[in-house]
Order: sequence, then structure tokens, then C-alpha cells
Amino acid sequence: MAPGLFRAALLGAFLIGSATPAPAHGWAVEIAPGVFMPYVSLGHPDDNSSTAADVEMWLREGGVGLDTAWNYHNQPLVATGIERSKRARESIFVTTKIPCFEREEIALAFVLDDLRQLRTKYVDLMLLHSPCASHEGTAASWRALQLALGRGLARAIGVSNFAQADLAAAIDGSKALGGVLPAVNQCSMSIGHRDQPMLELCRRLGITYEAYSPLRHVQLSDARLLAVAKAHGKSAAQIALRWILQQGVPLATSPGASHEFTRQDLELDTFELTPAEMDALSAIGAG
Ligand SMILES: NC(=O)c1ccc[n+]([C@@H]2O[C@H](COP(=O)([O-])OP(=O)(O)OC[C@H]3O[C@@H](n4cnc5c(N)ncnc54)[C@H](OP(=O)(O)O)[C@@H]3O)[C@@H](O)[C@H]2O)c1
Repeated sequence: MAPGLFRAALLGAFLIGSATPAPAHGWAVEIAPGVFMPYVSLGHPDDNSSTAADVEMWLREGGVGLDTAWNYHNQPLVATGIERSKRARESIFVTTKIPCFEREEIALAFVLDDLRQLRTKYVDLMLLHSPCASHEGTAASWRALQLALGRGLARAIGVSNFAQADLAAAIDGSKALGGVLPAVNQCSMSIGHRDQPMLELCRRLGITYEAYSPLRHVQLSDARLLAVAKAHGKSAAQIALRWILQQGVPLATSPGASHEFTRQDLELDTFELTPAEMDALSAIGAG
């Protein structure tokens, strides 16, 4: 089945009620041919004080996805956590991000430095962290990511914080090198804070929309959220995360050093919100 169709089928299955799609690849969405991204990735607290231990705990407890970036200055700590977990490299999915640069060779140097810091030969997903100030700059950095893909340094490539015009720049930049479109656009999304037109544009283009900061703008004490949480015997945070996932949107979240939050993140595929609950949660903060 073509990747787009597979993705559509997966999303369809998700929306009509299967709480655990794609069991053959774990709980994952196909972002590029044969590349399955887990629905939940571990991000990191801002101060990085516990990054290595968080990564190790996440992987030892069964987590698959890791989200990092050149700009987080924590990649050697992520590598330490991976090594300490003793997990096989192929059993985990590493996303990282490079800064955008006007010149292709500088962007490519960041790709190589990312891999050096992560002590790995390849990452599963390499993103442009945000667009450059100019259309040409974004196109140049996108060409660098395509070269990285062609050299096997990344299994898939994508973007982050891209608006519609930035996607057009990447698409322009892609033409010289075979027209590879971004597999993913990672953007801020949470209950009460979402960009529906971008979500729909990504769906139309076959780009996987991924959410970051899925809890950052959420009022976990909101009575409507708490009512749904009580009905499922889950925490308000789990409901807020499940609301995103149930739209077929994978996410990166940061449970920090909390064992309890990590455990909660690992059971997000074990329950399902009803259509009425989804609607009630979507109404929070809308208008
Ligand atoms: N592409 C980009 O530009 C971009 C930008 C921002 C983030 N990101 C990525 O997205 C990841 C997540 O974003 P974020 O760090 O803003 O985190 P988030 O997941 O939205 O929020 C994290 C905070 O929520 C609280 N929390 C986490 N799990 C919880 C639970 N089960 N119950 C109650 N509270 C819980 C914790 O706060 P307390 O510690 O205060 O309890 C934690 O620090 C980042 O780590 C990063 O990898 C990407």
C-alpha cells in the first residue's frame, strides 16, 4: 500500500475507534515509506539536569521515541541515556533538529555535528528547527537535509514551526534534488492552542503534523478536562495528550524526572475518548 494510503488507513482506523493502530510497528504512524514514527516521544526539561537519567528510564520502561535538537545542548546526554538503557538502536526512534542556515554547506555541517553529539551514524528524523528569515535560506537548508537523507544520515527529514509560506520555500528548495517533501511539520499544539488550517494543510500534502508542548498552555484544573479524566480514571494531563493523539497527531512531551508522569505517558494507548468527549475538549479555549 502507498505510504499516503497507509497513513490514511491508519488515521481512519484511529478515528473510528481502534485505540492501538499499526500493531506490527508498535503504536506508530508511517511518516515516509517504511519509516514508522512512534506516537509519543520523550522531550526534555529546559535545564537538562536529568536528561541522561530521563532517557534511560524512558527506554527501560518501554518508550520508543526521543526528541532532541542541536539547540537544546543536551545531545551527548541523550546519547548517554541511550547507551545506559542497553536498548538496540533499531528499537528506538530519534528525532533531532538543526538550525536553519542560509548556506547549504553550513546546514550540512550542523547535520554532521548533530550525529557526532548523539554518537550515532544516523537519526530516524532530522528536522529544520524553524524556517530561515529568507525563502532562499530555507530552501538552502532544505537542500542540505535532502543531501543528508540521500547519504543515509537520516531515515526521514522534516521541518518545525513552518507556516504555509515556509513550506512553499522548502518545496521550492526540494525541486533541484528530486522534490522530497517534508515528512513532518512539528508545531506547538495543545487543548485551547492549535492551528487547524496548518493541520488540514499538512493532511492534504501528506505531511505528518506533530505536536510539541502538548501540555504547556493547558489548564489542568479546567473542570471540563477533570470531568473527562474522572470518567476514565486518568489524569488531566493524560486526557489532554490523548485528545491530540486521537486526531492522528503524534507528539513530543516532557515528563521530566517524574516516574509517575513517565508511566502516564506510556499508557496513552490504553484508553479512548468518545466523540462527545473529543468535541467537549475541542471547545475548550475555542473562540
Ligand atoms: N520544535 C520546537 O520548536 C519545540 C519547542 C518546544 C518544545 N519542543 C519539544 O517538545 C517537547 C515537549 O514540550 P514541552 O517541554 O514544552 O513540554 P510539555 O510536554 O508540553 O510540558 C511539560 C511540562 O508539563 C508537565 N507535565 C508533564 N507530564 C505531566 C503529567 N503527566 N501530569 C502533569 N503534568 C505533566 C511538567 O511540568 P512540571 O515539571 O512543572 O510538573 C512538564 O515540565 C520538548 O521537550 C521538546 O522536545 C519542540
